[in-house]
Amino acid sequence: MSTRDLDNKPNIILDDEKAILLDHNYDGIEELDNPLPKWWQIIFYGTIIFSVFYVGYYEYGSGPSSQQELETDLAAVKALAPPAPQGADDIVAKIDGLKGDAGAMAAGKAVYDGKCLACHGDKGQGLVGPNLTDKFWIHGDGKAAAVAKVVSEGVADKGMPPWGPVLTPDELAQVSAYVISMRGTNAPGGKEPQGAEVAE
Ligand code: HEC
Repeated sequence: MSTRDLDNKPNIILDDEKAILLDHNYDGIEELDNPLPKWWQIIFYGTIIFSVFYVGYYEYGSGPSSQQELETDLAAVKALAPPAPQGADDIVAKIDGLKGDAGAMAAGKAVYDGKCLACHGDKGQGLVGPNLTDKFWIHGDGKAAAVAKVVSEGVADKGMPPWGPVLTPDELAQVSAYVISMRGTNAPGGKEPQGAEVAE
């Protein structure tokens, strides 16, 4: 198509477009000055203005870095965690103090029946878990410190769950005292001994 043909083409500029027709013409191609919609421009300029404040606040101002945000979040998560277990000495003293306390033993039995019986048997004779009524212990000597530790921390790879996060410190002491009270009762039908024999 020659330039002449283009010159002769019918004028397709509408009447109401004449005001926005730009003053240039490339080989017959003309351009209308159609502004972008207002809402689009507001969003566009809005993002530019936002970025100035954003960069100013986070890069140069007091805005927290990703690292600081992570630390804040981790601190919040830690605050949700149950309080750290009591010192080993505290728990031993507490368990020993429950010896012969009928109320505490009943409370310990209630925890045991609810949470331990399925694996250790109704009398502690052992099922999935070891016999708790014989003189043989896999973990420690079957005394307060060792029992509280294994009950609290569990034995992950052997199927003994950690009860520290589940039980309150009182319940932990009560159920430990109850377990200790079963020592040496040699419940009938008990599971074969596991671990090492310990002295009374
Ligand atoms: C899902 C089954 C399961 C439950 C529930 C469970 N235990 Fe155990 N428990 C085990 C197993 C298995 C072992 C043996 C771990 C090993 O072989 O090291 C064990 C070991 C123990 C030991 C150490 C025994 C030893 O010979 O050293 C004690 C004490 C104990 N459990 C107490 C409890 C108490 C108290 C509860 C309830 C609060 C409880 N267990 C609930 C499975 C269980």
